[in-house]
Amino acid sequence: MKAILLAGGSGSRLFPLTQVASKQLQPVYDKPMIYYPITVLIAAGIREILIISTPHDLPRFRQLLRDGSQWGVSFSFLEQARPNGIAEALLIGREFIGDSNFVLMLGDNIFSGGDDFSRAVGAFEKGASIFAYHVKDPSRYGVVEFDKSGNALSIEEKPARPKSPYAVPGVYIYDNGAVDIAGSIRPSARGELEITEVNLEYMRRGELQVRRLSRGFAWLDAGTSSALHEASVYVENIETRQGIKIGCPEEAAFIRGFLSTERFQALLETMPACEYRDYLAGVARELSGTDQPG
Ligand code: G1P
Repeated sequence: MKAILLAGGSGSRLFPLTQVASKQLQPVYDKPMIYYPITVLIAAGIREILIISTPHDLPRFRQLLRDGSQWGVSFSFLEQARPNGIAEALLIGREFIGDSNFVLMLGDNIFSGGDDFSRAVGAFEKGASIFAYHVKDPSRYGVVEFDKSGNALSIEEKPARPKSPYAVPGVYIYDNGAVDIAGSIRPSARGELEITEVNLEYMRRGELQVRRLSRGFAWLDAGTSSALHEASVYVENIETRQGIKIGCPEEAAFIRGFLSTERFQALLETMPACEYRDYLAGVARELSGTDQPG
């Protein structure tokens, strides 16, 4: 399985912060926002990741993430010249996708807790798998309506009158057919190729699976100043209480066995003395001896 991570958009809702760094590079407590979705992908065992961003911001992503080998993964980078919508990422990534199944993930979505996503990736065979998450303000999102037996009936993009409290988070698992579907849809009223249109086409074909995320799962988006602040506070609370970090790609890569103990130690030596390095050193100590990855 491969993944496309879309980190585009104008970031206008976070102005003036976004004058110096794009939204997905802003700090969420102690690390850049994009570390969170990358960690989720690595934890699900995905090693080949295409990062798509604006021509202006892409150099910063390259600088931060490099080719990925330091984490035992492979990053490639492509531009989205204009904010033409999420589904355009599938067209930009057509060659990268090749004939694989893939995950599309948005760079400003933060997930924590549970293994719902990793399990869905592991179980995926064909069609499309998306998720549904109970929220207070569904009209900001794609909204799924379910029948009494829990089958998805409809999906509407940012409806004024939502038919349910279930929003669609920005992570989607697709088979190869998604690329042609993305090529066949027309821009919406807001001038974007909507990912909801791709999902609706899978629904019409009877090939859409919608999984409700469990209650213990946290999905945060960091698209406004207060949402960004709330996400930071959330991460700080969990990390302080548990002494375990959320969104730490190095740790996920080590646990997943993408980095041997030697490579993990060598990576730590490239870091300055800081709390982040101390944390990772603790992870290495804790994991050594027992189920140590190879
Ligand atoms: C996009 C999708 C929407 C989804 C949301 C998740 O919205 O269009 O269906 O629920 O991401 O973050 P946008 O970020 O374009 O407002």
